[in-house]
Amino acid sequence: MYIADTAGSALDSPFMYSTEGLINTDEEIKEIAEQGFMEAVVDLKQSNKEWAALYGGSTKELLASVIDAEAPTSGPPLPQKNPLEPQVELKEELPRAATLYTHALKTTQRILQDFKNTGELDVKAGSIVVKGIVSSVLRNANALQAISKLRSQDDYTFSHCVNVSMLTSMFCRHLGHSDDSVFDAGMGGFFHDLGKAQMPAKLLTAARRLTSEEFATMRGHPRIGYDYLIKVSDLPETVRLAALEHHERIDGTGYPDAKHGEDISMLGKIVSIVDVYDALSSRRVYKDAILPHRVLGLLYGMRAHDLDAELTEQFIRCMSIYPAGSIVKLSTGEIATVTQISHTTPLQPKVLIVRDAHTVPITPYELDLVAAKDISIAACLEHGAFGVYPERVLKIATTP
Ligand SMILES: [Fe+2]
Repeated sequence: MYIADTAGSALDSPFMYSTEGLINTDEEIKEIAEQGFMEAVVDLKQSNKEWAALYGGSTKELLASVIDAEAPTSGPPLPQKNPLEPQVELKEELPRAATLYTHALKTTQRILQDFKNTGELDVKAGSIVVKGIVSSVLRNANALQAISKLRSQDDYTFSHCVNVSMLTSMFCRHLGHSDDSVFDAGMGGFFHDLGKAQMPAKLLTAARRLTSEEFATMRGHPRIGYDYLIKVSDLPETVRLAALEHHERIDGTGYPDAKHGEDISMLGKIVSIVDVYDALSSRRVYKDAILPHRVLGLLYGMRAHDLDAELTEQFIRCMSIYPAGSIVKLSTGEIATVTQISHTTPLQPKVLIVRDAHTVPITPYELDLVAAKDISIAACLEHGAFGVYPERVLKIATTP
């Protein structure tokens, strides 16, 4: 099997083995377990054939089967109509989303720095940022999702808060939650890692394995965030629990309280999923971003033990196989960016074609792959492949 690098896991998950590479024998697995590691994220795409076969073929096929599966029979019924159906055209929302995202990053940076320096939290400023995020998600979630690719590896701390807020509110809307509940979900996502602002900077930036004492300190960040949020009297408990429980795991191996699935709140479970998704799909100083559909495949592998299985499968349905802003190569050889996902036909989103079959830039034009029956997506490419950056081409294409 092939072990994936799990981004910030050295800080957040001391028992997670995350040295990237292929493991071929049971003896190697035993050795790793004897060193005290208890879990690892396996990348099936890069694993040997036996592992890939054992877990069901390609990531794309696996995700398609999850998305096509019958809706779960347990839990509250899912809405018949897609709650994330865009209310406005992408070209209308994109400029707003771009301004909003840039402003949200700056405000979040200020909020966290002030909190670190003074211990005072500007909750009102945070709630204004979240209101903006949620409003954009409800108008057309594809816009902010594509624009969020603007993040750089240097602003991870701030962009993680903004992105987790966006994805959490998006996911809760997908589940059919009310406007108020979606806003609370956005707040929970935004403040989930608040406690990290009070962690020693040298631990947050350490490029080495932390000592057990240092791990113990880092594992305190969910409770530090929760304890502070208790002081904010008008916040719902669900928001505070998102901070407290986002590192809990449903099999009881998480922290700070080793809660089991049934004891973890719904928003705590949801933010756990989104937190891992955003961490793995982000580019960091020490690792490249993992392609979104591969991250979803990794999440699928983490369901049942670490993440709530039903919610993880719903999250995969919400994100679809090629999220907005993905760069794809079509079966024609043309290069495009995904502009609108389709929950009913996840393999056939709307795309904006920006390079011809020889990868030469062209005047961008939109194509609905549902209508273009003989054209399909051949591959998902890295952000910036062939010089295509979705945030740039989408803005160019939508400028009147
Ligand atoms: Fe965290």
